[in-house]
Amino acid sequence: MGCGPWALLALLCGAAAAPLHCNVSLDSPAERRWLPVLRHFEPAFLRAAFQRIIDESVPKWVHQVIQPIAAELELFMPQPFAGEIAGMCKALGVNLGDGILLNFAYESTAFCTSIVAQDDKGNIYHGRNLDYNFVDILSKITLDVQFIKDGGRWWENAIAAFLNRNYPVSWLVRRTLSEAEDFQSAVLRLADIPIIAEVYYIVGGVSPKEGMVITRNRRGPADLWPLDPLGGAWFRVETNYDHWTTPPPFDDRRTAAIKALNATGQHNINFDTLFKVLSVKPVLNNNTVYTTVMSAAHPDRYQTWMRTGE
Ligand SMILES: *[C@@H]1O[C@H](CO)[C@@H](O)[C@H](O)[C@H]1NC(C)=O
Ligand SMILES: *[C@@H]1O[C@H](CO)[C@@H](O)[C@H](O)[C@H]1NC(C)=O
Ligand SMILES: *[C@@H]1O[C@H](CO)[C@@H](O)[C@H](O)[C@H]1NC(C)=O
Repeated sequence: MGCGPWALLALLCGAAAAPLHCNVSLDSPAERRWLPVLRHFEPAFLRAAFQRIIDESVPKWVHQVIQPIAAELELFMPQPFAGEIAGMCKALGVNLGDGILLNFAYESTAFCTSIVAQDDKGNIYHGRNLDYNFVDILSKITLDVQFIKDGGRWWENAIAAFLNRNYPVSWLVRRTLSEAEDFQSAVLRLADIPIIAEVYYIVGGVSPKEGMVITRNRRGPADLWPLDPLGGAWFRVETNYDHWTTPPPFDDRRTAAIKALNATGQHNINFDTLFKVLSVKPVLNNNTVYTTVMSAAHPDRYQTWMRTGE
């Protein structure tokens, strides 16, 4: 779901075929829940990687303005994100302002191709490529995170609602995944809750017709573009341009993906063929960090492949 998975501070792994898998417990205090994950990595490497992303993507003046007020900023950030970022920064010895900026830097530089499709039996498939300028860094720090929540009271919810300001786009994804009860309520939240930047949210549900591309502006939805399998629209492709406009010729991943989906056909779409569609150039390109295919009805079939060096 979404373009730009939560960067938080650190998502990490070796450049093997599948990313490292980690569990993060939402029942642990926010400040501590990522520390077991961080232990898989060399702190000096992480500090250097973060520094490079910030140096190359955050304007100097923003950096200078944010650093001294980071501690105050934390008070205005919704939980659990504030606590998680503060906890990781402290563990790594990274300035809190840099930790906050890294989340914004990530969101402003990630590109992707997302597809949601329905086969002729009504199964919904969902796939994406993440393309990123710092492909060498991200390929070393990509991680499959399984969030674990053992029920009980999640006190952060109350505080998040209380402090509810505009969300970074990926935080809204995480909050939605954590709280929405079904496709309909996920779409409503992703469409309506104010966020800090424009974005496309691509959502796949568990039942037929539950596929949607949401084009967002900051205050609410700019456009909702659902699957329409009865009308012949059995897939939707979203890259980084509004679907009602023509993509620029130098970055037309959309047409390539549509051609490949047309050639595949609704009858033949499945996890394997969707992966193949996401492997057609330039849908797959030299900035592609990973490819994910999934189907919400079959969480066990979720799979991500690192694509660097292909
Ligand atoms: C994560 O938790 C699940 C159970 O919820 C377990 O099956 C799995 O082995 C755990 N993975 C890791 C990497 O600890
Ligand atoms: C894909 O197929 C649809 C329906 O036949 C057609 O309208 C569209 O032009 C095709 N697009 C591409 C890029 O081949
Ligand atoms: C990556 O770049 C190389 C050299 O420019 C090119 O030969 C290769 O086809 C590109 N790979 C992809 C997946 O586009």
